Amino acid sequence: MIHVNEHYAKLQASYLFSEIAKRVKAYQEEHPDKPVIRLGIGDVTEPLPPACIEAMRKAVDEMAVRETFRGYGPEQGYAFLREAIAKNDFQARGAKIDASEIFVSDGAKCDTANIQELFDTKLTIAVPDPVYPVYVDTNVMAGRTGACRRGRYKGLVYLDSTQENGFVPALPDVPVDLIYLCFPNNPTGATASRKQLTEWVKYAKKNKALILFDAAYEAFIRDPKIPHSIYEIEGARDVAIEFRSFSKIAGFTGTRCAYTVVPDSVVAYTKKGEAVPLRPMWNRRHTTKFNGVSYPVQRAAEAVYSDAGKAQTRALTDFYLGNAAIIRALFEKAGFPVTGGVNSPYIWINVGKDSWKFFDRLLKRAQVVTTPGAGFGKMGEGYIRISAFNSRENVEKALKRIAKVLK
Ligand code: MLT
Repeated sequence: MIHVNEHYAKLQASYLFSEIAKRVKAYQEEHPDKPVIRLGIGDVTEPLPPACIEAMRKAVDEMAVRETFRGYGPEQGYAFLREAIAKNDFQARGAKIDASEIFVSDGAKCDTANIQELFDTKLTIAVPDPVYPVYVDTNVMAGRTGACRRGRYKGLVYLDSTQENGFVPALPDVPVDLIYLCFPNNPTGATASRKQLTEWVKYAKKNKALILFDAAYEAFIRDPKIPHSIYEIEGARDVAIEFRSFSKIAGFTGTRCAYTVVPDSVVAYTKKGEAVPLRPMWNRRHTTKFNGVSYPVQRAAEAVYSDAGKAQTRALTDFYLGNAAIIRALFEKAGFPVTGGVNSPYIWINVGKDSWKFFDRLLKRAQVVTTPGAGFGKMGEGYIRISAFNSRENVEKALKRIAKVLK
């Protein structure tokens, strides 16, 4: 008899962004005359930078000619892209990362989920609360948790991120094996200082734990004191895996390109306590289950590191940060405590009440889609997240409508 994976039954209703999409669809069907503005899911709206388009076009032309046509590429990504990543994203910041430690993929979301395959099912996992739901849901699917009671899964160690701790959680007070961190944070937009990240790296070293560091939003950091990568912290090469994405820096949400860094020195342990390097394991997993990102897309990603690409992606992230600043200003002016929107495209607003109710209020009365904080965990209740990813025209229109509702 074929048995289902019963761990799926523990999952809460539907994936957060699917639930939002369902509510928005229902509202739109009832009110086809009221167009909604989407500031919910962090999906980009502006076109790909011209440097990326040019590189992609050139690559497509190469694919049309026998002499330059390419079939399967290396599963880990083409050397031209891995080398550009290592040089620009890490070595230029003093982080010793080699091209061979980079694995190009089709998304940081999938990578943060797939990486779990390398680990035992019986681990103590720490997740911040609020948290990007993928970290939690994928561990539930893999059977690493018990049932969900009052918004929390049994077996997970929740690290509260609150206004009081600046949304950077304190170190756990019980031993944990695997730690998810995301900075600049989704959903709160908070950033972690060098000192705070150093404490996490020290904790991981001392406890033989591993940090999964999601840096998908690093391109929005403008404060020169804030680290972009965990590998800017001494010792992190031994205890951290980092996830990056071209989605938000260069508008690749639909194009798909990301990468994961698994340094040579990062290890996990057998039950006997022997250290096992994770890079060969991830390489084995990647080569067995993944056939690489398409050549034109990797060429487009490489163009992000050209002089023109650097200037264009900077302009793109500056543009979204400009949206974030005006969103933040409106809510601050209205008297709401606000985090993020600076060094981050997400604005996290303390609305002081039921976040799904506030979400519904903005949807129905302002026709603006946001994300209710409760969808990110128990500690997200009372907050909403607004994404700065939209056109300036739409953001300004949305803010006018919201201002009327808040009055
Ligand atoms: C979000 O809105 O949290 C992000 O778009 C999710 C993602 O990048 O998968």
